[in-house]
Amino acid sequence: MKNLTPGLQRLVGLIEKDQEHITVKKAAELVEQANITAGDLQPWADYMHPVKEGYGRNLAYHTDKFEIMIMTWNPGDFSSVHNHGYTQWGAVQVFGNVMHQVYANTGEKFSLTKKEILPYGSITKVNNALIHQMGNVTTKPYLTLHIYGANEPHQTVTADMKIYELETGLIRETQGGAFFNLSDEEAPVVGKMSLIDKETFVNQAAILMQYYCRYSAEEIRERRLPLLEQLENMVCDKIGI
Ligand SMILES: [Fe+2]
Repeated sequence: MKNLTPGLQRLVGLIEKDQEHITVKKAAELVEQANITAGDLQPWADYMHPVKEGYGRNLAYHTDKFEIMIMTWNPGDFSSVHNHGYTQWGAVQVFGNVMHQVYANTGEKFSLTKKEILPYGSITKVNNALIHQMGNVTTKPYLTLHIYGANEPHQTVTADMKIYELETGLIRETQGGAFFNLSDEEAPVVGKMSLIDKETFVNQAAILMQYYCRYSAEEIRERRLPLLEQLENMVCDKIGI
């Protein structure tokens, strides 16, 4: 593991001093107090990550109670829609203007509830119930800092993170990144999604269409056709998915 930079050292120091019971609110406050800069994240930047992986991710530090990850977002990079495993408290600080979408799963309907741009430097609270998606719709790459923690020790705090695959209606479980198009081996199917709101599906289909451009011409066609068909069915109210 690389040596921690001054900003991350301050963050680790603050968390370890405050280990009693960290709440989501406290986690965001500690990140703010640590006064981290984009330069503090640079050693873990991964601008050359495989394009099909959607974004770069590197673990900077971990204990059995929390982990610090640095994500790299090139223009057009997007995560899939996901939650956060065992995470009880967490925060994300962005070092770029980040596209952020928040979803609600009532059990009866799955829908997009918020679409926003997180401005440079802002800090967002994260817990396991948060279902969201991040992406870079700007023309420049940038990094984001992610801290995920639990108050009881756990082998991997973000283990068993769920991915909500709107295009298939399946829920997958991953021990790694929240990428699109993960195979059954990489992310086994653990459930089915509830009914997906129409506008939510249309919004996600546009993101996926762009993501598919990362494949070869033949693969793009193979992936786009079923998605277009689903889009047609959904928009025309023929059948649900
Ligand atoms: Fe996340």
